[in-house]
Amino acid sequence: MNTDTTPRRIHRREFRDRVVVITGSSRGIGRETARLLLHAGARVVLNGRTASRLEQTLDTLRAEFPPEPPSDEGRVSAIACDISTEEGARELVRHATERWGRIDALINNAGVSMRGAAAQLRASAVDSLAAGNLRAAVLPTVAALPELEARNGRVLFVSTVAAIHGFPGVSLYSATKAAVHTFAEALDAEVRGAGVTVGVVMLGFVENDPEKTTLGADGTAFHHERRAMQTQAQAAAAIATALARRRRRTITVGAGRLLDIAHRVTPGLVGAVLARSGGRIHRVSRDE
Ligand SMILES: NC(=O)c1ccc[n+]([C@@H]2O[C@H](COP(=O)([O-])OP(=O)(O)OC[C@H]3O[C@@H](n4cnc5c(N)ncnc54)[C@H](OP(=O)(O)O)[C@@H]3O)[C@@H](O)[C@H]2O)c1
Repeated sequence: MNTDTTPRRIHRREFRDRVVVITGSSRGIGRETARLLLHAGARVVLNGRTASRLEQTLDTLRAEFPPEPPSDEGRVSAIACDISTEEGARELVRHATERWGRIDALINNAGVSMRGAAAQLRASAVDSLAAGNLRAAVLPTVAALPELEARNGRVLFVSTVAAIHGFPGVSLYSATKAAVHTFAEALDAEVRGAGVTVGVVMLGFVENDPEKTTLGADGTAFHHERRAMQTQAQAAAAIATALARRRRRTITVGAGRLLDIAHRVTPGLVGAVLARSGGRIHRVSRDE
């Protein structure tokens, strides 16, 4: 009896020759998710705005997953575009359908993080976080829906445990990701009848690529270091499993599951604990 039930084996049955579009996959969690799904036999569309970095990731993954005879087309492609715009979102979907003929799943992974006190927020930060997290999740979904509806497809939103309850120091990040959750619920109610599965994956702190930047309360980007709870590979495995099992809601870390229960039962207590956390969860100021 074959007892290999590792995620990769399960995923191979599930993903072989499926076309999966991953927004924001030129680095970080998106790139590792692409790598895992390529291992599982999927055809993957990579995306990011910075063409040079995207090209580098495409080259790396093409070398790791070379074309297999008799097919000579490989299983990975890439399109550089800003998916927080309608034009960019349409470009992403056009590329996927022209290159691979269909879309079986969309992973809305592209996102922007922030760090800074709510009292110091500027309009530019509000606009950047709304575009980078909400528009960047909504617009590719809207563009891909006809394709997804045509083949009982799946759409998955990559989110954070900080969307379960507003966290100090990351107010706009919490708020825009929570807005994505609410969008996902409404979308689910609208498209479930058409056979499309909608899911949300909430991650804890994941290790970052060195070049990752975060936005300050004034809307400017800076480098931010903090301890990780999960590796990128663990986050990718959780995302792939949620997609394979058509899960609607996944929380990947124990602390997040505890927070979820506490938030439902006694949100006031969660608020009180966060108010007394003294920056231990998220430092409020970027200068600390
Ligand atoms: N890292 C964590 O601890 C953590 C925790 C919980 C949730 N998450 C979520 O997981 C997702 C990935 O996080 P990460 O840490 O891997 O981020 P990351 O390292 O900053 O990577 C983000 C990726 O998205 C691309 N991107 C950003 N905005 C885009 C846009 N408008 N259009 C196209 N591409 C865009 C970036 O490339 P370009 O800049 O070249 O466009 C890059 O490839 C995000 O949604 C994040 O909120 C992360």
